[in-house]
Amino acid sequence: MQDTILVTGGAGFIGSNFVLRALGKFGTRIVNLDLLTYAGNAENLASLDGNAGHELVRGDICDAELVAALLEKHRPRAIVHFAAESHVDRSIVAPEAFLRTNVHGTFVLLDEAKRYWQELSESDKSRFRFLHVSTDEVYGTLGPDDPAFSETTAYAPNSPYAASKAASDHMVRAYHHTFGLPVVTTNCSNNYGPFQFPEKLIPLMILNALEFKPLPVYGDGMNVRDWLYVEDHCAAIEAVLERGCVGETYNIGGNSERANIDVVTTICDLVDEMRPSADGRRRRRSLIIYVADRLGHDRRYAVNAAKLKQELGWEPAERFESGLRKTVRWYLENSDWVESVRTGAYREWIDRNYGGRPVFLDSV
Ligand code: NAD
Ligand code: TYD
Repeated sequence: MQDTILVTGGAGFIGSNFVLRALGKFGTRIVNLDLLTYAGNAENLASLDGNAGHELVRGDICDAELVAALLEKHRPRAIVHFAAESHVDRSIVAPEAFLRTNVHGTFVLLDEAKRYWQELSESDKSRFRFLHVSTDEVYGTLGPDDPAFSETTAYAPNSPYAASKAASDHMVRAYHHTFGLPVVTTNCSNNYGPFQFPEKLIPLMILNALEFKPLPVYGDGMNVRDWLYVEDHCAAIEAVLERGCVGETYNIGGNSERANIDVVTTICDLVDEMRPSADGRRRRRSLIIYVADRLGHDRRYAVNAAKLKQELGWEPAERFESGLRKTVRWYLENSDWVESVRTGAYREWIDRNYGGRPVFLDSV
């Protein structure tokens, strides 16, 4: 077994942040299996060109032969599994891809990992880890006064995305319970930061605000998410990978609950500050429109990450306000990256999701 990690989905938002950080920090070799769907972008990893410690393999986690061949060739000490369809709105419009990648793809990885792991020496067997990256959305939705999700909260997924991630979490659990595969699962709250595909709330609002386009807030704008800077998520994954207890699940959260409308108005103010309008008078807040709500829209997510703090000493390092400021600056300074991801397929999605959506009220 080598000091190699097989990362899946490492050309996506969180995966690429993880790969860049892990290579810089530990010198571990990374084999990165990514299908490069609309959400995956090799340019996220451009700074690694020529780095022998990283190999990007374009391929599908549902391809059992490919997964087996990669395990056999690279003999990794761990698999860190990010690859997924990850956008709730897309799971409402077209759920099938979520079942394919998130459920079947995770099954294929687990099954091939089991075969590989069973043939390792006893010491390599005990060192091997399968780390499954999951979401807090598997727990469903909270009322305003409910306690935050803990690792023992019952699963109650509400969107096709959340249901597919819940199914994958259960399969990971079953491969540990039935076959002894050394798994760990993390359930994280909403991430933000560099390289996030601009279909998600924060980058969509930053780019629309920059260009004086409408800022479509779903429903009454009072849905709450618990925001975590992506670097903090990657640090938590590292801690769980190196020191987490086999068979356990760990919740990861930002301790930063914010209503969507507050996130959007803060973005407006930051963009006004960094890129004022030509006459200096036009305010981005005036671009906010309230549009028809997302179907089945979960009201509130909040994560209790006390277990991770107590057992592994992890807590978020970034405050939401400073993390959001850094993120807005990153999108303003990386217009080449932005243009490279806003392809025809991206524009089609924006038309499909927002084109016919009724507007209830424009501006706050
Ligand atoms: P993303 O959509 O940005 O990236 C997903 C990556 O997976 C892309 O690079 C894509 O090309 C790749 N991929 C998709 N299907 C594939 C397949 N069949 N085979 C190989 N590669 C495939 O997602 P993200 O936001 O980086 O999320 C990564 C993981 O973290 C997901 O499992 C997601 O459920 C989880 N998660 C995300 C968040 C969040 O706020 N973004 C929060 C908690 C958990
Ligand atoms: P999103 O970034 O899609 O993450 P998730 O659905 O996984 O939490 O959405 C975050 C919140 O922002 C969610 O409550 C839906 C809302 N939202 C809008 O109000 N308008 C938008 O255009 C988008 C994409 C999201």
